[in-house]
Parts: sequence; structure tokens; C-alpha cells
Amino acid sequence: MSITIKDEAGVAAMRTACRLASEVLDYLTPLIQPGITTLEIDRLSAAFMKQQGTVSATIGYQPSGYPPYPGHLCTSVNQVVCHGIPNDKPLKKGDIVNVDVTVIKDGWFGDNSRMYLVGGEAACSVQARRLCQVTFEAMWRGIVMVKPGARLGDIGHAIQTFAEGNGYSVVREFCGHGIGQKFHEEPQVLHYGRPGTMEELKPGMMFTIEPMINAGKRDIKEMGDGWTIVTRDRSLSAQWEHTVLVTPTGYEVLTLSAGSPTPPAFVTTTAC
Ligand code: MF3
Ligand code: CO
Ligand code: CO
Repeated sequence: MSITIKDEAGVAAMRTACRLASEVLDYLTPLIQPGITTLEIDRLSAAFMKQQGTVSATIGYQPSGYPPYPGHLCTSVNQVVCHGIPNDKPLKKGDIVNVDVTVIKDGWFGDNSRMYLVGGEAACSVQARRLCQVTFEAMWRGIVMVKPGARLGDIGHAIQTFAEGNGYSVVREFCGHGIGQKFHEEPQVLHYGRPGTMEELKPGMMFTIEPMINAGKRDIKEMGDGWTIVTRDRSLSAQWEHTVLVTPTGYEVLTLSAGSPTPPAFVTTTAC
């Protein structure tokens, strides 16, 4: 097995799938308020996907050793690291929630996630806001490393040094992944590592960068439902995710839309 290189038609199809995945997150932005349940978010998203002509990649998704995933998206609140299953518990002021959406359009997968501050910035603790902000910047520090000739280890190293430099830890058990006509393809994109190591990047490769950063220790545990991952020390965890294309001269972030949060100031372009 090896890393697939997408041709122009594949790139065009991925631009569409990824923009649509980002538009689901845009749609949710005003809806994520204190009192809404993650199950309501799931149902609203399912209806929105139907309208836009996409299908959820997560509902019924069953990697070997896992039960079928029951949600149209993942909702990971506070100490939940990833793969949180939508439930009937209302979100409360001051919660932080990652919503991770993967849609399929014409057989192509677009995968992205964002953090939402429930009740707005003012409702959340300084620590929670800082964790979300540092994780966002960590993702972008990884993205800007992407160009032909760079290596996956360069991306992981950029993310790890920034996150750890801010006193946080990087989850090791989950990583970014190649994506295209399959949800998860080669390569694995680790969010830690050493410069100049791992696979060399080539134009036409596509993968996600999706660091999970914990406020406390990096250790995790599974909650017993087969999916939900939490921090072992119950500290807060944050995650952001984009799907990225390697271009002849750099990168193109595919999961962008009108409502995408503005990148940090050191990012001069979203495509180069
Ligand atoms: N979207 C997640 C990722 O970034 C995978 C979720 S799988 C699910 O790779 F089954 F939990 F939805
Ligand atoms: Co992903
Ligand atoms: Co995802």
C-alpha cells in the first residue's frame, strides 16, 4: 500500500467535498449555544447535509474492532479528546466542544473540525480559551510546513514544539490521515516527531492535520462505549482539523468556507 496522488479531477472533487464539510461547521456556528444538546446538533447537521447533497461519512462507520459509529458527526465536550457520541445532555455556558464533520460528495471525503466556545468567549475560562487558541495555532504551524520535499516529521515537530512550549501535551494515539475516495488512507500524520523524518511530501498528496492537545497529561482512556476518548487526568482537551493538499510549491487548505476562522497572523496565505 502507498500514498495516493490525486489528479486534477480528484483535486477538483476534493475542493467541493471539503468546502461542503466546512459549510456544515459554518451552519452550526450560531446554533451552538447553551441548552442545545449534541444530539440536536447531530440531527440539524444531518438535515443540512441532505440539503447540500452530501452524506455523513461517520454514521455507521465501523473500523475493525469498533462498533458502528452512531452519529452523523462527532461532538467532543471538555475532557473528551475525540469521537464523542452525540447525546441528550444540554451544553452549558463555558463548555468547549469540538465538532468533527466528515461528508462524502460524489464519492470523495472532506474532513474537518473546529472548537466552539459555548456561550461565547466571555463565558469560558481563560484556560479553556487559551487551550483552544493554542491548538488552533498548533494546527496552522503544522499546515505551513507542507510543501514538496518536506517530511511528515516536520509537521509533527512544528505542532509538538508549539503545544509543549505552551505547557500542553500532544495525544499520540490518534493522528491525521490521508484522505480522498476513502475516509482514512495512508499516510498517518503524527502530531509529534522529529524534523527530516518520515515520508517525503509530493504534489497531489492530501491528508488531514488534526492535533488533539491536552491541558494536562497526554494519557487518554476509552469510556466503554467503544468510541469516546477522554483525558485520563480529566483535563480539558481541544482539537482542530483541516484537510490539506500538497501543491507544487506548498499547500492548499481545502476545508475552507465563508465562516472559517481567520488563520493566525503568521499565516500569509491559505494556498501557495
Ligand atoms: N472525523 C474523524 C477524523 O478526523 C473520524 C471520526 S470516526 C467516527 O478522522 F466514527 F468517530 F466518527
Ligand atoms: Co480526520
Ligand atoms: Co475529522
